[in-house]
Amino acid sequence: MLIRPRRNRKSAAIREMVEETTLTTKDFIFPLFLLEGQNKKVEVSSMPGIYRFTVDLMLKEIEECLKLGIKAFDIFPVVEEKHKDKMATKSADENFFYLKALKEIKAKFPEACIMTDVAMDPYSTDGHDGIVDENGNILNDETLDVLADMALAQAETGIDIIGPSDMMDGRVEYIREVLDDNGFENTSIMSYCAKYASAFYGPFRDALDSAPKSGDKKTYQMNPANKYEALIEAELDAQEGADFLMVKPALAYLDVIHLLKENNELPIAAYNVSGEYSMIKAAAERGWLDGEATMMESLLSIKRAGADVILSYFAKEAAKVLKG
Ligand code: PBG
Repeated sequence: MLIRPRRNRKSAAIREMVEETTLTTKDFIFPLFLLEGQNKKVEVSSMPGIYRFTVDLMLKEIEECLKLGIKAFDIFPVVEEKHKDKMATKSADENFFYLKALKEIKAKFPEACIMTDVAMDPYSTDGHDGIVDENGNILNDETLDVLADMALAQAETGIDIIGPSDMMDGRVEYIREVLDDNGFENTSIMSYCAKYASAFYGPFRDALDSAPKSGDKKTYQMNPANKYEALIEAELDAQEGADFLMVKPALAYLDVIHLLKENNELPIAAYNVSGEYSMIKAAAERGWLDGEATMMESLLSIKRAGADVILSYFAKEAAKVLKG
């Protein structure tokens, strides 16, 4: 045998030398759930180790994460039922706790990269990402105005990246134009580009109490059976002015991450979603999997597939492991 691949695996030093993919804390965006009020920290029951924080405690959490080297955060609001309505009015109300908190966070940590989510579901009595008409249809073009108002209100808080997660057609361009017209040409857009109608979002909808009241999201989120359709979405979002393209979920869609990376010059983000987090946590709690090793292998796989940026609830835990 002239060729023995095992020679390059014979010691840790050699294995590290020939390692193709290196995961770093700089790859991560840490999603955080924001509660209204003060001095509250509530664990998400289907996501052990993940909490919903009021702004005062979230500031402490962000400070801790910055010390660990995490520089980017994606902040989602937990909206009480009494604040919800059909048109998601609170999403663009500058006095609403979410927008006020974003301002406070950005003022306290100007060096942190703060991302927000643009979609109607957390604020909507229907629990859908767009406007629902009397027949249960999700209206595309009418929704664009609501999304643009929401994006503009978020940009006005000084945040860095807008994350449209709604999957309406044409929303990246629509939001880009409204931002530019109002002097926010430096606010970035990370488009949820290939976002699938996935069962893996369950624990997130528990965290925000944002599940659809009726129907499902299959007329706007992508069919899990389709890979090449993601190229259509990617091309459109790139033309419409997106700065990043996201694939979501991540682990069950590594082929899609790879495909977009190979066919695009824009940075590719992958969202390692709530259900992917909870599966590993549940198996680890039962002693069926080594939680830490499985977490690190999963994150590495997402990067190896082609993700430049990884949104993950594991960010803080993984940052501790990477720090050693
Ligand atoms: C809202 C939104 C969802 C997620 C991020 N933004 C849920 C959904 O589309 O139903 C899911 C994130 C996760 O599961 O971690 N549009």
